[in-house]
Amino acid sequence: MSNVLRFGNVNYVRNGRSILSDVNWEVDSSERWVILGPNGAGKTTLLRIATANDYPSSGEVDVLERRLGTFDIWELRNRLGFAATAMARRIPASETVRNLVLTAAYGVEGRWNEEYDDMDVRQADRVLAEWQLTEFADHAFGTLSDGEQKRAMIARAVMADPEMLLLDEPSASLDLGARERLLQMLSGFAQSPSSPAMIMVTHHVEEIPPGFTHVLLIKDGQVQAAGPIAEVLTAENLATTFDMQFDLSASGGRYTAIARS
Ligand SMILES: Nc1ncnc2c1ncn2[C@@H]1O[C@H](COP(=O)(O)OP(=O)(O)O)[C@@H](O)[C@H]1O
Ligand SMILES: [Mg+2]
Repeated sequence: MSNVLRFGNVNYVRNGRSILSDVNWEVDSSERWVILGPNGAGKTTLLRIATANDYPSSGEVDVLERRLGTFDIWELRNRLGFAATAMARRIPASETVRNLVLTAAYGVEGRWNEEYDDMDVRQADRVLAEWQLTEFADHAFGTLSDGEQKRAMIARAVMADPEMLLLDEPSASLDLGARERLLQMLSGFAQSPSSPAMIMVTHHVEEIPPGFTHVLLIKDGQVQAAGPIAEVLTAENLATTFDMQFDLSASGGRYTAIARS
């Protein structure tokens, strides 16, 4: 067990507006976190800071035991896996799925002139199989369905065997079948002891994959509650976070929240 992420009194202010306020949060390598909160709560900002893609206005952030601001983000590129829809938009439509995953070993997008060694090719094939993408390996990224694109971005994020995997709304916009398939895969990945620490953003309790251990609830840039799912995911905490009363139920490791009438 080791600490992979630590936020100490983190504030993020833009245009005089407080987007994150006094966030304190610690993630251990064995933990799998869900970040849950309404649109505009600050979830993506939290991930951008956790991946050293942005910096807090004040407070301390340690990523993989390195203090943010004291190192070049490039040094962490192979130790962090990050997948977000905004990144998928930057992938050239003609890029093959195999190259998309393979280039992650070098932390670049688009295939340049690197020579890939056999080990990288084998690792890419292993990761493609794990995320059920083998049949699409030679397909162009632009021809994949939403669900396949999401899995390809995750495969790319895990290619370099990161110590922390961060996913921003991986199941947003998927149809029911694609969503359930992705949740099953994320659940399996989360339950493997050899997997890295995971942090996944979602708006829906229905999208928490079984095997995730912790939840952070955030509203208006303020952490409402954070800790083990069994203690923190309560109807009371959801009401505070979403400004609405819910009936919350759990079955088979999955959750459902329905507005209380
Ligand atoms: N760089 C920025 N400059 C100004 N406003 C920002 C910036 N980044 C995020 N915001 C604002 O901060 C709020 C939180 O954004 P975000 O972290 O994307 O929320 P979420 O992912 O929870 O929907 C939003 O109102 C957004 O418009
Ligand atoms: Mg967001």
